[in-house]
Amino acid sequence: MSKRYTITAALPYTNGPIHIGHLAGVYVPADIYARFKRLTGNDVAFICGSDEHGVPITIKAKKEGVTPQDIVDKYHAIIKTSFEDFGITFDNYSRTSAQIHHDTASEFFKTLYDKHEFVEEVTEQLYDEEANQFLADRFVTGTCPKCGNEEAYGDQCENCGSSLNATDLINPKSAITGNVPTLKETKHWFLPLNKHENFLREWILNGHKKDWKPNVYGQVKSWIDDGLRPRAVTRDLDWGIPVPVPGGEGKVLYVWFDAPIGYISATKEWAAKEGKDWEPYWKDKDTKLVHFIGKDNIVFHCIIFPSMLKAEGSYILPDNVPANEFLNLEGNKLSTSKNWAVWLPDYLNDFPNQQDVLRYALTANAPESKDNDFTWKDFQARNNNELVAIFGNFINRVVVLTNKYYDGIVPEASEFSEVDTETLAAVKAYPSVIESSIERYRFREASQELMNLARLGNKYLADEEPWKLVKTDEDRTKTIMFVALQIASALATLSEPFLPFTSEKLKRILDTNANTWADISTKDILLPSHHQIGKGELLFSKIEDKTIQEQLDKLEASKKANEAANKEVEPQKETITFDDFTKLDMRVGTILEAEKMPKTKKLLILKVDTGIDTRTIVSGIAESFTPEEVVGKQVTVLVNLAPRALRGVESEGMILMTETPEGKLVFVNPDTTVNSGLQIS
Ligand code: MF3
Ligand code: ZN
Repeated sequence: MSKRYTITAALPYTNGPIHIGHLAGVYVPADIYARFKRLTGNDVAFICGSDEHGVPITIKAKKEGVTPQDIVDKYHAIIKTSFEDFGITFDNYSRTSAQIHHDTASEFFKTLYDKHEFVEEVTEQLYDEEANQFLADRFVTGTCPKCGNEEAYGDQCENCGSSLNATDLINPKSAITGNVPTLKETKHWFLPLNKHENFLREWILNGHKKDWKPNVYGQVKSWIDDGLRPRAVTRDLDWGIPVPVPGGEGKVLYVWFDAPIGYISATKEWAAKEGKDWEPYWKDKDTKLVHFIGKDNIVFHCIIFPSMLKAEGSYILPDNVPANEFLNLEGNKLSTSKNWAVWLPDYLNDFPNQQDVLRYALTANAPESKDNDFTWKDFQARNNNELVAIFGNFINRVVVLTNKYYDGIVPEASEFSEVDTETLAAVKAYPSVIESSIERYRFREASQELMNLARLGNKYLADEEPWKLVKTDEDRTKTIMFVALQIASALATLSEPFLPFTSEKLKRILDTNANTWADISTKDILLPSHHQIGKGELLFSKIEDKTIQEQLDKLEASKKANEAANKEVEPQKETITFDDFTKLDMRVGTILEAEKMPKTKKLLILKVDTGIDTRTIVSGIAESFTPEEVVGKQVTVLVNLAPRALRGVESEGMILMTETPEGKLVFVNPDTTVNSGLQIS
């Protein structure tokens, strides 16, 4: 039966591109679900947009010396385009800086204010005297009072998932200046979550939400059991939606208050464009509202936003919140700031027209019930061993043989054998099998069922061997090819939610677009005899080791750069007097000759013109320079260092060096050519 669905995908923060963690956790499953619901005849609004407020964006803007608006404009464009290119079929991708969103969020706040749903309170909040700014959320870090993680944020601990108030942090530190904050009084509006505790308990714990995923249900239950506290929904910031009530001057709505309302604004914007009424999508009890999110968003979508909607009074509540766990990358946590990620724009660039490969790899290995690891090896294996060897191979055989034997015309079947009948019956069962997995939000399982249908096709051909029978039994061969073509048609339709580009290609190859999802289980003939199919195209191609190695090298480089950036600076040495310093005699020297010290890896024997004399210096730079490279170089030499013998060669001084982030030694030298012997002071 057709139903109305409002499907939302978490609004991404607009301070960086999308990476595979976002895709696996939120956008790929949401898109599979939305496509599936459309394909099965439902009325779908699939909603997303950019989350453009919040502290991380202002921090990034400050760092780069641009305005927050510059940052969100840049990343909104990048994110929106990459979603489109990747084939995510949002009905509307909006943004929270849009006027319609400012209006909608303001109005929502005012409604709750007028209904006395907020508690107004002057409290002491963390304040950075030097930056002249209140500190909340990501502006402050400290130790989590629940788990002891020393890098918890003022709104949340990413280690244990606790939702925090900035003042809960132990040893708080300003993220702007690094200073220890003071406390200063300020007025804010709080949503009294404690007041909604009974409703939440009734709705989720005693209600029908037992079918929510255990990870989601468990988190929500533990929060409610811990006891809920009022939560500030305004902030002392200048980037955000102004607080629209008396006393709200200079304050904005908390980003987590405005962002989920973005789902509503985006629906309004879409409905206006389409000439539809937005309200049924949010207010009709028969509409099914589903939020796709990552696990760090659970509290906001299962406790705070529902409390807001309930307090407002006219909205429906989510039917389900199928949150995923996290995806790691090659054994390490994905991180935007550490550049440990596979970025969607990079992927689209490095793997043109291979959107479905990533979709499939991420779905088949989705972090549905526990954190999972993405590895490039697994990506390669999913492509080569499943998409190419099973799905692609089956389709290729069917299309090539049909063209070869029958000029691409679907042959007539004569009598079906028992195997044929069983095979055709098995195909008819697939829609409901896949559907049942999708309805339980088990997209990995669903994708494997789809692959099983391709396996069934492969096995059928391998067992029936039409390429042998074609010489002896024309009728039987035709029947086999007819059956195989029915399986191929079923794959064309059933693959659409999972492999949309492939599905489209396959429909083009078979030259059919006639079958709906329901047809696969009801129609006896999906591709009729005498229908002319098109020429073959390869659906997938093998990914070579070299391609995978390039991606691994890219990651390795990013890890190195990161380690270098984060290298601890050595603490300063003990203070010396000016007299101590003048004892050092440092001169500009010119390297005249260089040779490798026999039987060592690191040492070069140099002849250096110090202006005073020409002397021998042994230097440990052979891993960074060849002898030829250093001849003629000007360097800084400590000339009055007591001579010492290295491997039997007397070294009469030392050359000053430092190290690049990549570990290569470089000379400390004058930046223009000067006379040897000049003193350095
Ligand atoms: N921007 C948030 C994140 O990336 C998600 C916001 S979801 C919404 O974690 F509901 F607030 F929109
Ligand atoms: Zn914690």
